[in-house]
Amino acid sequence: MANKVKSDKDYSQYFQPPSLTDAKKRGKEDIAVHYDFQIPEGMKEFGADKYYLIRTFGCQMNEHDTEVMKGLFEQMGYQATEDKFQADVILLNTCAIRENAEDKVFGELGHLKALKAEKPNLVLGVCGCMSQEEAVVNRIMQKHAFVDLIFGTHNIHRLPELLKDAYFNKEMVVEVWSKEGDIVENLPKKREGIRAWVNIMYGCDKFCTYCIVPYTRGKERSRRPQDVLAEVRDLARQGFQEITLLGQNVNAYGKDFEDISYSFGDLMDDIRKIDVPRIRFTTSHPRDFDDHLIEVLAKSGNLVEHIHLPVQSGSTEILKKMSRKYTREHYLELVAKIKRAIPHVCLTTDIIVGFPGETDEQFEETLSLVREVKFELAFTFIYSPREGTPATDMEDNVPMEVKKQRLYRLNELINELSKQGNEKLQGEIVEVLVEGESKNNAEVLSGRTRTNKLILFTGSKDLIGKLVYVKVTHAQTWVLKGDIVDAPVKNISIPS
Ligand code: 5AD
Ligand code: SF4
Repeated sequence: MANKVKSDKDYSQYFQPPSLTDAKKRGKEDIAVHYDFQIPEGMKEFGADKYYLIRTFGCQMNEHDTEVMKGLFEQMGYQATEDKFQADVILLNTCAIRENAEDKVFGELGHLKALKAEKPNLVLGVCGCMSQEEAVVNRIMQKHAFVDLIFGTHNIHRLPELLKDAYFNKEMVVEVWSKEGDIVENLPKKREGIRAWVNIMYGCDKFCTYCIVPYTRGKERSRRPQDVLAEVRDLARQGFQEITLLGQNVNAYGKDFEDISYSFGDLMDDIRKIDVPRIRFTTSHPRDFDDHLIEVLAKSGNLVEHIHLPVQSGSTEILKKMSRKYTREHYLELVAKIKRAIPHVCLTTDIIVGFPGETDEQFEETLSLVREVKFELAFTFIYSPREGTPATDMEDNVPMEVKKQRLYRLNELINELSKQGNEKLQGEIVEVLVEGESKNNAEVLSGRTRTNKLILFTGSKDLIGKLVYVKVTHAQTWVLKGDIVDAPVKNISIPS
């Protein structure tokens, strides 16, 4: 049952703050897979004439969770709206990865306070990774008591019941499980467009010392291969053109199976045979990236030549303090192996600068690794302390000004490499999945290459959702431009 709590109570009984020792003890208890999910009787018509709005923050995992919640709302008869004045329910699906992600959510809550005062019947909920943090929940209780509902990342399938409780109770409804739940298979999902996400696993057991994810998302749990394959086949039948397999650390897929031996490489080898033009995956961890996977990716076909391989730092010392469990040399060897097997591969990465104690020399090692690998894109961040993670206890003697300067220098280098990578494509013919009209000019179409680069070109609108070939005429830092060339247009179906 959800806990219905008054805002002046002590809520600590409902949460356990992220604890490294407790979390690391996890692992042995079995995770059950459920195939019998149903919207509870009595909730199937609950949303008739009502509207929902979900604001999503953070990563693709959150985007996909939002698709599940949209599916649940629609099975209850709700309709979608983007207008907060029309909405009967507003959910904030939150991200906890860095402090500024959390600040955005608190800012949004500040704006919604006035709306809630105007529309007292509005149900306002907070879900996602921030709801898994005790400090955040306490802050909402104390400073944002107008929130009606808080639920965690393991409680999404409970949305119908929680919503009902929120409607019929004046008090805040809170349901956050500090331990991960089971896998619930047949939840509805509302997907839009031509690209789809498919979860292959949940949680993370890597415990990098800066990262909150193993606490907010729980332990690694892999979906059964037959369930993943059935979902991908179904999406292929519906006409989706591109599928991205999701997991916090997809390379650990299958490690938790006790009855079968089936790895991420095996899964990719099976998915490769399904008739979908493009398969991507994110995000991978260098430690578990094995030779079998590289061999399978080298078979190409619908497996695109783009690998997002977060390195985080180029210094072995810092990697050790981050508990990444590989060295600079190991990462570079892996990259060399990948490049040998997949010659046109595009590598992208995530990097943190200003980790506690990072010296100028260690930062220079990051720059030199970036230059050596020639990443074509990187998501770069200043280290942000996360309560309850081991890195918060490390001495951080790097001034913020220095961290900002490092980030600036790193971004300049990445921009330069991105431009060089794009320039290599000048004059080449690339396969493009046409996504829609360009943001700034409706006469121009935009699409993505197999390596996920943005490309603009002129063409008829009925090419949207199809694969075409484009000759690259201009290469800029963030975008390519080109002309469609005569070649057979592949795939004609757009998912309804
Ligand atoms: N501070 C800064 N960046 C972080 N990331 C994860 N945790 C933190 C943190 N505490 C970055 C990592 C990760 C990406 C998703 O976010 O680079 O790969
Ligand atoms: Fe966080 Fe990724 Fe490390 Fe897991 S592998 S702890 S999600 S950075």
